[in-house]
Amino acid sequence: MPDDLRSETGSRWDLLTQTGAGTPMGELLRRYWWPIAGASELADPGTKPVRLMGEDLVLYKDLGGTYGLLDRHCRHRRADLSYGYVEACGLRCNYHGWLYGSDGRCLAQPYEDIAHPEARLKDEVRIKAYPVEERGGLLWAYLGPEPRPLVPDWEFFTWKNGFRQIVLAEIPCNWFQCQENSIDPVHFEWTHSNWSVRLAGKAGPYTPQHVKVDFAEFEYGFQYKRVRTDTDENDRLWKIGRVCLWPNGLFTGNHVEFRVPVDDENTLSVMWHFSRVPKEQEPYVQNSIPTWQGPIADPATGRWITSHVMNQDFVTWVGQGRVADRSQEYLAPSDRGVVMLRRRFLQDLERLKKGKDPKGIVRDPAKNRAIELPVAERKNFIDGFSRADMMRDPFNRRNLQGYIFQTGQPPEVREAFLAAMGFTEAELEPVPAAFDPLAPAPRSV
Ligand code: FES
Ligand SMILES: [Fe+2]
Repeated sequence: MPDDLRSETGSRWDLLTQTGAGTPMGELLRRYWWPIAGASELADPGTKPVRLMGEDLVLYKDLGGTYGLLDRHCRHRRADLSYGYVEACGLRCNYHGWLYGSDGRCLAQPYEDIAHPEARLKDEVRIKAYPVEERGGLLWAYLGPEPRPLVPDWEFFTWKNGFRQIVLAEIPCNWFQCQENSIDPVHFEWTHSNWSVRLAGKAGPYTPQHVKVDFAEFEYGFQYKRVRTDTDENDRLWKIGRVCLWPNGLFTGNHVEFRVPVDDENTLSVMWHFSRVPKEQEPYVQNSIPTWQGPIADPATGRWITSHVMNQDFVTWVGQGRVADRSQEYLAPSDRGVVMLRRRFLQDLERLKKGKDPKGIVRDPAKNRAIELPVAERKNFIDGFSRADMMRDPFNRRNLQGYIFQTGQPPEVREAFLAAMGFTEAELEPVPAAFDPLAPAPRSV
């Protein structure tokens, strides 16, 4: 193994894992927009407490439909603004009624405005406020300096005829080890395919093995590529592969997973999932994207849930420790992508010092239209399949039968999904044989 893969010093790990304001990586990460909620969580005006990169905040939508993201604590005497109430314009503290606008200005101090109008104390008061934008049914926050970049308009946000859902989970570990999983092809074989075989009580057979992996950098991230014993270099997963989306995501085609730092020891997993409806269901327009939160621990045993794809990932991330101790790692050639990711961040910290933008920042509105990404099965998401084809294909069919990615999907989301896809539960029985999502056939759902 090359020496440079194991000779990273301890301080580098602190650099890469700390997200607070004023830390080098905290400042770097503040140059990007972060998904913090599903817009459907605030379908009605109201508030949602948010903790992002160690900052306690409150997200709100006022009665006029404007979003805001403010300090969690009132500027007056620190009451919790997530218990405040939204007005036609702004968020009002439930303690003494001070009212704040989305730009952080204090718009009203009811007692002072009546008793001491001449003092105009409110003109001096500012509360911490950050911009919020909606894109793809997600609410995005920007905590960095102006001029702010654009919220990337990734192509999948513009795809038509899809049932979309947003799935959240709170993961008790540092975000960076979650993101390192976004450039780790070999884990799929062991964390998902083979472990699922074992969890099903069988000793085998195991899935085809990885025999070759490669990584390539592009403007908005890295591609990782794989060849297994059942494929060759003509396979889509070698030619195109999957995307480690910069700086915080994994994009596989049918979904993107964002790893959002809550603080240095907690991460919000935000998954945005696209299920192409059958051709017979076109045109399908989804008015609101449901957002739901899945559990990660089994209350009966206190152990992590292992039954679903992302839950299996969560087990590996939290298993590395609250903040993985990288000084104790023993990296292997399959970890080359992880090393590339770490190096890119370290190099971008240097770029930032020179006043330059880090990787993947989008500022040009002309460029920010359905930004194309490598998608191994793009045709499937754009063109879709017929109902009959979906039922014939084990992968598509399994995805119709239940949500495999994360446990805890609410029944109403399941019902909405089935209505969108045009299937009934009865049609989808019986449970089929096991499927292999990396098998060399085009897949979509
Ligand atoms: S603490 Fe918020 S108005 Fe007094
Ligand atoms: Fe995984």
